[in-house]
Amino acid sequence: MEKVRNLRLLRERVDAARLSHNTVGFVPTMGAIHEGHLSLVHLARAECALVVVSIFVNPLQFGPGEDFQRYPRRPEQDALSLEQSGVDLLYMPDPRELYPSDFSTSVEVAGVSEGGEGSVRPAHFRGVATVVAKLFLQVLPDVAYFGRKDLQQVAVVRRMVRDLDFPIRLVVAETVREPDGLAMSSRNAYLAPFERQQASALPRSLFAARDLARRGERDPDVLEKLTQGELQKAGLAVDYVEVVDCTTMRRPGRVEPGVALTAAVRFGKTRLIDNVLLLEE
Ligand code: PAJ
Repeated sequence: MEKVRNLRLLRERVDAARLSHNTVGFVPTMGAIHEGHLSLVHLARAECALVVVSIFVNPLQFGPGEDFQRYPRRPEQDALSLEQSGVDLLYMPDPRELYPSDFSTSVEVAGVSEGGEGSVRPAHFRGVATVVAKLFLQVLPDVAYFGRKDLQQVAVVRRMVRDLDFPIRLVVAETVREPDGLAMSSRNAYLAPFERQQASALPRSLFAARDLARRGERDPDVLEKLTQGELQKAGLAVDYVEVVDCTTMRRPGRVEPGVALTAAVRFGKTRLIDNVLLLEE
């Protein structure tokens, strides 16, 4: 695995692969690599000749008072696990190169960025879309890999790719979970042991609602109320529980394939998000 820190070198390496008609796969991350990230790498490794992973803690997608400063940064450990997973190129851009002091462009994906995480983190998806657009144009991959855990992020990136004609195919990977069901996340490290225990109520409540939907319940209201009640019973502070259409991020009148149940809970300043698809596709 080679580490590159600037755009010129990145382009040299990726262009060389493309010249020999090799498929380029790209996994953008913010580091603190865990099995969730590695599942995307494994998918890319299976499909592409050149696998590029980026690690960049993107300041644009953190709001004031959020965890940008304390976001876990472990470059050596990350490089080791990525290398062991067969990554070819690790791109760790210099923030000053990515965002020069007079950087003034942003990508705003209206509609799908609103509601859900967008209503709690107002500029978050503008920051995500802007950095993903930049990274896409820098790497120019054939395929890019994202996790369904960040359901709204997938909807935002998908819409941006379609609206702006990025010639990139998106692959969405299933959520990788801990044995008790908690979705793997770099932010799980913030939880105190008793909070970590409590957190398993988040996936448990979502799975219970999913079971109900699969047994025939089609009313979003019923599923949201049930989940909200379960989360509160477990003592969790609920930010939101919402049934959404995965493409539009709007609330559907009825549960159908392509509809998910999403939730966000809060432990002090730490927020955890999760979602489940309610019906088989
Ligand atoms: P990050 O949180 O590091 O996640 C990188 C990718 O890993 C995302 O596509 C995310 O959905 C996926 N991922 C995280 N946890 C997962 C899990 N438990 N199972 C499966 N996939 C999982 O998402 C970001 O970074 C950033 O917003 C980024 C897209 C890099 C832009 O800055």
